[in-house]
Amino acid sequence: MNDKIVKFSLILFLFIVSSCSNKSPVFGENGMVVSTSRHASQVGIDILQAGGNAIDAAAAVGFALAVTSSSNGNIGGGGFMTAKLANGEVFTLDYREMAPKSANRDMYLDKDGNIIKGKSRSTHFASGVPGSVDGLLKAWRDYGSGVISRDQLMGPAIKLAREGFDLSIYEAERFNKNKERLSKHSETKRIFTRDDREWKKDDIFKQTDLANTLERIAKNGRDGFYKGETAKLIVEEMKSVGSWIDYEDLENYVSKYRQPVKGSFMGYEIISMGPPSSGGLLVVHMLNMLEKIIEGKNSDFDLSFNSVHYIHTLTELERRAYADRTEHMADSDYWDVPNSMFLSHDYAHERLKDINFKKATDSQLVEHGNPYSNQSEETTHYSIIDSEGNAVSVTTTINSGYGNGITVTGAGFLLNNEMDDFSSKPGEPNMFGLLGNEANAIEPKKRPLSSMTPTIVLKDDSPFLILGSPGGSTIITTVMQNILNVIVHDMNIQEAVSSPRVHSQWLPDMVFHEKNGLSPEIIDELKKMGHDVRMRGSIGEANGIMINEKGFWGGPDSRGENTAIGY
Ligand code: DON
Repeated sequence: MNDKIVKFSLILFLFIVSSCSNKSPVFGENGMVVSTSRHASQVGIDILQAGGNAIDAAAAVGFALAVTSSSNGNIGGGGFMTAKLANGEVFTLDYREMAPKSANRDMYLDKDGNIIKGKSRSTHFASGVPGSVDGLLKAWRDYGSGVISRDQLMGPAIKLAREGFDLSIYEAERFNKNKERLSKHSETKRIFTRDDREWKKDDIFKQTDLANTLERIAKNGRDGFYKGETAKLIVEEMKSVGSWIDYEDLENYVSKYRQPVKGSFMGYEIISMGPPSSGGLLVVHMLNMLEKIIEGKNSDFDLSFNSVHYIHTLTELERRAYADRTEHMADSDYWDVPNSMFLSHDYAHERLKDINFKKATDSQLVEHGNPYSNQSEETTHYSIIDSEGNAVSVTTTINSGYGNGITVTGAGFLLNNEMDDFSSKPGEPNMFGLLGNEANAIEPKKRPLSSMTPTIVLKDDSPFLILGSPGGSTIITTVMQNILNVIVHDMNIQEAVSSPRVHSQWLPDMVFHEKNGLSPEIIDELKKMGHDVRMRGSIGEANGIMINEKGFWGGPDSRGENTAIGY
């Protein structure tokens, strides 16, 4: 081979490598939407360009995701919204599912007190009363710009459902990968699988029943879901198991504005979601502990990104924080959650006292299976900012991928399996390995404890980061690591969301890392300190925005198919 060809090949190789490892965020001067679906992100941008604000866009994106991201987007589930408005106002909206009134604390146990396998995950009884429709419409009504009508808000989602949209390879393969699970319920099978073949990229996916349901909501507002034809279809669907969610449960569903969780870290202000989510309080509590450690650290204590000391320290904080989560956190309408304890700097200081910075602490030993073998990452987070500076952070879910796998016959949407987030039995882990005690026991109308952590970080009282993630119990540690990646490790938002993550949660007493996330030397060192280090699939899928004087920088997580669009 002559020299010129060798040189050309080398340049070509370097070019390919550099474009593959491109970690530049997407830029926009007037607005930014980052979500898991390219169609939904475009819907958000179209709403902003039509004169809507970030709240209008967030509601429209929520409805669009219900069409284009069936495994996690939803009208059959719930979510949380955190917002910081350009006028300074902050709100957090809880549209988490509620347990139906006939729920009771032992409903997933057999007569011997053992868990009935699958009942809280893949049966009609797994579903809480959905909150998304009430929540999205409430946010739009109370904080939207006033220039976007309900028809405009829902029109794009209805069009995507009725006329269909082209599946990406990722979406097609996700359906194919879940074919067996999606074939268990006849209506789910009819809509989400093809008898004769697999889904392919560019197949047009139409959902007529869902389009009709969305049209009823566009016409009648929340009554288009919680009353009338849609309510009738939900209640009919429940008849296959006798009864579960009934008309009264639907009519009584209410989303609620909650007291935002506020904290600070190294001069930045953190705003996040409080109970019934555990996310905001735990992130603030762990950052409080970390700030104390950073203040007191000596020069040979290396807290650089994914160093041994860094991972050991995060693990020790997480161990303590998740132990408190188990004992103290739940729906605050039903349980006295000690918010002030979690927010207290004194408590954070106190909690640090027994950390040995050279050796792992033993978490209390509890019998459990390994919940991490095949965990899906099937919640979704989206972040939005508009030209005025209204910032919105939304995490929404039907819990596991495609929820309980049951589609409301005739209404075209999947139901959640959020009841599994309750503690079915003290000491028994849920699908995320999370334990629960009395606090999170099942009660009628109560909301299950969540880890979803839609967060906004402020700098000089203005939005600086908009962040969140799916990932069950790993959501909280993912959000924390993203904040640290930007503030402590000086990464841009694309690097921050895409960098390898670690996770630990008290029990199971293990430190998880992603493939290629930690070097063999670091793993060895951690093991020597007493940590049980395990590799697992991806941890979280964060979609963030960073804001500076130049404009808005969108960071879609490279782990999934996420799309940032700015303008
Ligand atoms: O609310 C929660 O914490 C869970 N239902 C979230 C589920 C989730 O993130 C699924 N992804 N693994």
